[in-house]
Amino acid sequence: MQEKPMKGIVLAGGSGTRLHPLTLATSKQLLPVYDKPMIYYPLSTLMLAGIQDIMIISTPQDIPQFKRLLGDGSDWGVNFEYCVQPKPEGLTQAFVLGKDWLDGAPCALVLGDNLIFADHLSVLLQQAAQRQSGATVFAYQVRDPERYGVVSFDEEGKAQQIIEKPIDPPSNWAVTGLYFYDSKVTEYAKEVKLSPRGEYEITDLNKMYLDNQELRVERLGRGCAWLDAGMPDSLMQAGTFVQTIQSRQGMLVGSPEEVAFRRGFIDADQLRVLAKRVHKTELGRMLFELANDVHHKDSKQL
Ligand code: TTP
Repeated sequence: MQEKPMKGIVLAGGSGTRLHPLTLATSKQLLPVYDKPMIYYPLSTLMLAGIQDIMIISTPQDIPQFKRLLGDGSDWGVNFEYCVQPKPEGLTQAFVLGKDWLDGAPCALVLGDNLIFADHLSVLLQQAAQRQSGATVFAYQVRDPERYGVVSFDEEGKAQQIIEKPIDPPSNWAVTGLYFYDSKVTEYAKEVKLSPRGEYEITDLNKMYLDNQELRVERLGRGCAWLDAGMPDSLMQAGTFVQTIQSRQGMLVGSPEEVAFRRGFIDADQLRVLAKRVHKTELGRMLFELANDVHHKDSKQL
């Protein structure tokens, strides 16, 4: 049977308690990361992987704001579907909530507060999106692995075990908030039980793939930045990071408009319309430049 094209889910709910009081009256994923709302970054990641059907999951109170910001996706040549998560009961719930919409398609999941930036990211993402079976996750070395799902490797570099927020981490390789799953994901997700802390853990889903020898863990190296903007310091660092790259290199980070254009989801005229909407900003200027400049268009760098 012909495999359906991969769909994508952005998880943009949660309670954002570590950012209180910033998130008392608004969604974390709508907060600014330098010059864009946070959700632009994970959306760009999915679009960079070539994904055009995207579901945005958030809380009942925040969904209207996301709709206002993003619409139906047609401006960017993609389709957005919105879904309410009544309570933040864990990341794996995305596949239970999204089951009918997925309709047997493979799916990538990205956390709404995660920003990934790397050389050749585009290639890595497209490879992961095109894999026909199994799951692909990415691991990144961090100083504080106990905050994350942690993966350990055997001597041959094969993933050995994954543990959620271990007190005594077996390695400093954290699993990032970007996951690619084959079409079995909704079946597997159904089997995941509530954890002692009351969540349907993504680590338990990943463990099922690992136990079936179907989990591929790609290690991201030094030339890669993975940031989660869920705390005051990391939010600030993410903003500074984006500002530094954009002002120094004149390249956009996390612009869905740019990705849509480079991926061929929209043409130069459509990009100009988007640029015009933000014409008083540096972002607008950079988008105009991209639409008008063949040199930029030909550049493979994303
Ligand atoms: P977390 O940062 O683990 O949780 P949170 O956003 O609720 O924040 P805090 O710990 O400060 O209270 O969530 C990671 C991402 O996943 C974030 O973008 C929110 C999202 N999320 C959901 O959409 N639904 C959920 O059930 C959970 C647990 C998280």
